[in-house]
Parts: sequence; C-alpha cells; structure tokens
Amino acid sequence: MSQSQLSPERFIQMGMGFWAAKAVMSAVELGVCTELAKGAKSAEALAESLRLNGRGVRDFLDALVALNVIERDGSVYRNTPEADQFLDRNKNTYVGGILEMAGARLWNPWGRLSDALRTGTPQNGMSGDPNHFDHIYSDPKMVKLFAEAMTGISTQTARVIAQKFPFGDYRSFCDIGCAQGALPVQLALAHPQLTGIGSDLPLIKPIFEEYIARFNLQSRLRFEPCDVFKDPMPKADVYIMGHMLHGWGLEEKKQMVKKAYDALPKGGALIVFDAMIDDDRRKNAFGMLMSLNMLLETPHGFDYTVQEGKQWLKDAGFRDVSATALNGPDSMVVGLK
Ligand SMILES: C[S@@+](CC[C@H](N)C(=O)[O-])C[C@H]1O[C@@H](n2cnc3c(N)ncnc32)[C@H](O)[C@@H]1O
Repeated sequence: MSQSQLSPERFIQMGMGFWAAKAVMSAVELGVCTELAKGAKSAEALAESLRLNGRGVRDFLDALVALNVIERDGSVYRNTPEADQFLDRNKNTYVGGILEMAGARLWNPWGRLSDALRTGTPQNGMSGDPNHFDHIYSDPKMVKLFAEAMTGISTQTARVIAQKFPFGDYRSFCDIGCAQGALPVQLALAHPQLTGIGSDLPLIKPIFEEYIARFNLQSRLRFEPCDVFKDPMPKADVYIMGHMLHGWGLEEKKQMVKKAYDALPKGGALIVFDAMIDDDRRKNAFGMLMSLNMLLETPHGFDYTVQEGKQWLKDAGFRDVSATALNGPDSMVVGLK
C-alpha cells in the first residue's frame, strides 16, 4: 500500500470512541430506555420526565439514534428491540448495571491509565495493599451496583455455560463469588435437576436473595457466605469461579484453584471463566483491556491466557483439563477431580 493510500481514520475513531461510550453510559444513568419502555416520547416529554435542562437533549437523543441505541419516528423517540429488552431497568433482562458501574466507577480511573502505567498502582483511590473488595464495598451504594454490574456482564455467558458444560451429569453446584446470582439463576432455569449455592462475602446475601426471589428459585438456590481465602468451601459437585481469578495476583489465583480441588468430591468439576486472553496475545483486545482494568482497580490482579488457566488447574491436580470459548470475549477452563 502506498503512503497516500494510508488513512488515519481508525486511530481518530478509536481515540474519540469515548464520546459514544459516555453517551451510552449517560443514557443508562439517566434512565432513557427505562422511560421509553413505558411508551414513545418526544424530546420535550423525555427531558421533562428525566429532569433534563433541555439544552443538548435533542443532540443527545439523536446521537443515540445514530448509534442505534434508540429509534426516532418523526419527532418521537422509541426503544430499539434490544434497548427495550436489555436497558429497561424494570425488566429481569436488564444488563445496564455494567454500564452504570462503568460510568460511576471505571470512568475516572480509566482517565488516569497513563499514571497507572507509570506507577503500577491502582487509580481508584485505594491506598496501601488491602483486598480491593474492602475498598469497593467501603461505599455502601457500590455493593448493589457492583453486584448488578456482574449480572449485566455475566448473564449471557451464564446461559452459554449452562449449555456447554454437561450439568446433566451432576446434582449440585456452588458459584464462588456469585454476586447477585446471575449464573446460579441461569443454571437453575436450564437444568431442573440441579440445586445450587451462591457463595460470596456475607454482605451479598440480601442482594442475592432478592434476585433469586424474582425468579421464584428459593427452593433450589440458597446463599452460603464464604470468604474463599479464609473459610471452608460449601459442599457441591461442581464449583464455578467466574471473573474471580483475574482480580488477584498469581499466588492467590493458584490458592483458589487448589482450594477448590481439595474441597471437591472425586468426580467433581471446577469451571473457571474469565475474559481469557488468546495464547498468542494478539486477538482478545477485551481480555487485555480487562487486564488493564485490573491494573486500575486492584493491587495485583491481571487477566491471563487460556493456556495459563489450564496449567494452573493441572498443577492443582485436576485431570482432563479442557478449554471452551464462550460468548464474546469469555472462555472457560474445566478440570475434573
Ligand atoms: C468480579 S465479581 C464476579 C461475580 C460473578 N462471579 C460474575 O462472574 O459475574 C467477584 C465477586 O467475588 C466476590 N468476592 C470478593 N472477595 C471474595 C472473597 N474473599 N471470597 C469470596 N468472594 C469474594 C465479590 O463480592 C464479587 O461478587
């Protein structure tokens, strides 16, 4: 390709991509799609119900139209089918929690990515070397917001795991670090013979129980508090650790896997899933950006390749260790005891 055929377009688009990202985050924060789910509205009516000033509203809404988040007929705005299903806070299919958290929690630290790379330290205000969840949960509002964000990012992955792992061969599971309970709910809905435990730090219990009740699954799913680094693991045939390993340093990652191995019955299985990086570290941009997110949010966390994940399970003693691509950037590694 000659020099005159080269175009800078994609650099500009990529670098200015934060405009579109923030517009979608603000749409979720302000509740645009939740409001439109009640019925189509003009810009003036939306501005009034969302208590917006008016200046910029048309540009904001039309930008969302151009970005294919919402639609406009004449001067009336309505949700696209996807926005109606996934960005209406009043539906059980809502995934906007991850975008709410992106706006409330990740936006500012990402503005300091260069500082994080210069210093190697988190940029979210945490100091010293505590557990990053002590920091995240020191803001009471963040507990529920974080759990809902996990539902947003993990529900679709949970549906795929429910299909790709042979749960028909097992009776019980325990989701370690379950957050709101998106995975337990999807597994229970897909496999009627399964009973499950959602396990997490004690402060998650009411958030889990409220979510499970929405699906009427209280008779098959229950919460057991467990600090994975301190407490015995709840008993189950299958353990799942979703988006767990990446938050901690190498020693803690290995410790979690080994603890699962020791606690499982013979024939039991461990499923680990994360936005695992392709072994050649060239393709899964989301996985590598997620790892940078761990740089910004945690003292020692990092994402890892599929091969590394498999090796940690083998080192802990698991047999028949295999990897499977899930939806989007996530992969799971499975080992049997
Ligand atoms: C990144 S979230 C992942 C949530 C969920 N597994 C998913 O994939 O969507 C990590 C979860 O681990 C929980 N957690 C943090 N420290 C923990 C610990 N020491 N023991 C057990 N769970 C912990 C957090 O409360 C949070 O729900």
